[in-house]
Amino acid sequence: MIDDVNPFVYSRPVAPEDVVDRDDEVRELLGNAVGGHYVRLFAPRKYGKTSLLTRALRDGERTEGLTGVLVDLYRVSSVADVTVRLERAYARHLRGEVRRRVEALLQRTGVGLSLGAFGISARLQLDPARDPLPALHALLDLPLRLEASGGYRALIVFDEFQDIGRIDGLDGLLRSHIQHQGEVASYVFAGSEPGLMRLLFETKDRPLYGSAVPMRLGRLEDADLAAHVSGRFAASGREVGEALNPLLAAARGHPQRAMLLAYRLWNRVGPGGEGSLEDWEAAHAAAMRELEPELDALWRGFDTSEQKTLRALVLGDGSPYRGAALRRLELTKDAVRRALPRLAATAEIEEREGGGYEIVDPLLAEWVGRLNDRAGADA
Ligand SMILES: Nc1ncnc2c1ncn2[C@@H]1O[C@H](COP(=O)(O)OP(=O)(O)OP(=O)(O)O)[C@@H](O)[C@H]1O
Ligand SMILES: [Mg+2]
Repeated sequence: MIDDVNPFVYSRPVAPEDVVDRDDEVRELLGNAVGGHYVRLFAPRKYGKTSLLTRALRDGERTEGLTGVLVDLYRVSSVADVTVRLERAYARHLRGEVRRRVEALLQRTGVGLSLGAFGISARLQLDPARDPLPALHALLDLPLRLEASGGYRALIVFDEFQDIGRIDGLDGLLRSHIQHQGEVASYVFAGSEPGLMRLLFETKDRPLYGSAVPMRLGRLEDADLAAHVSGRFAASGREVGEALNPLLAAARGHPQRAMLLAYRLWNRVGPGGEGSLEDWEAAHAAAMRELEPELDALWRGFDTSEQKTLRALVLGDGSPYRGAALRRLELTKDAVRRALPRLAATAEIEEREGGGYEIVDPLLAEWVGRLNDRAGADA
């Protein structure tokens, strides 16, 4: 049996006990939930939203007696999709007595819902013309019925919430239900695209306008990452050694990039060994090789002025309007001015506290830097 396994996870949400440095955020989120306030949580992709939400659900269940449900709305595109996701989320998260009650409530609605295998998804497959709307109404109504059947308070988390923006009228439908549920349920709306989240929550004529307290997840602190990385090395009989500092510098507090680099480094260091600068360089190179297709695909998705703006940003160390860079890239200030908000709307870049911008993913920034170097003076 293999028992010397890499302790760093970077390709899926981490378990609640592996979440680094998010105690305050979990507390704030649960405080709002218990106080009956809805929350909209924003963070760029791979900043640990789902990990944090899973941890908040666990803690909410343990310490506040909340019944938690996490609904993944990634790429939903129809009312039927949302209905299926919601039903499956209840099926996945509920246990014991609550589950029994919810199943009974669903059966009674007579619209084809069930937490078992033969629920609404199976029925929609058999009969694609079936109208999913009654089932969706019944699911959105569940918190009220659940409370009436025994005083359960629900914490319902919609992950990748921005994707409902594609479905006409869904935010209005949602609002018509949740506005009456302040006493019985709390809602968290998490999303990774600031542009779309703003559209849903900060546009005056949208149904959810101003309806949720904003929260955002930032980068992780170097000190917390250092403790986590060296702790995990030590617990698996290794020392992270002098490789730690360059790792922290390269990760710049980006949660997933930090774990990816730590994973690669750990693979280089055998049992009883200690990380060296050489190990770090090899680990870093391996990580960049692994990311090549991902970054290349991302790059191809940008239009020319977005690509050039990113390059100008790296050349200007955060200021995209430097004359030399603009000339070299044959880029106009006007094109930069138009590209910046588009890149910010998808959280590819963010404003720096001291002014200027930063590429959110430090390894993308490095990759763009290499592109600049490779392109040489003639670019
Ligand atoms: N607080 C944290 N502690 C340790 N690792 C973290 C933390 N947050 C994020 N990570 C790392 O980031 C990766 C992605 O986490 P997660 O899936 O929770 O992020 P996400 O924001 O939901 O991502 P996506 O945008 O892909 O849905 C994890 O595999 C882990 O390596
Ligand atoms: Mg996620």
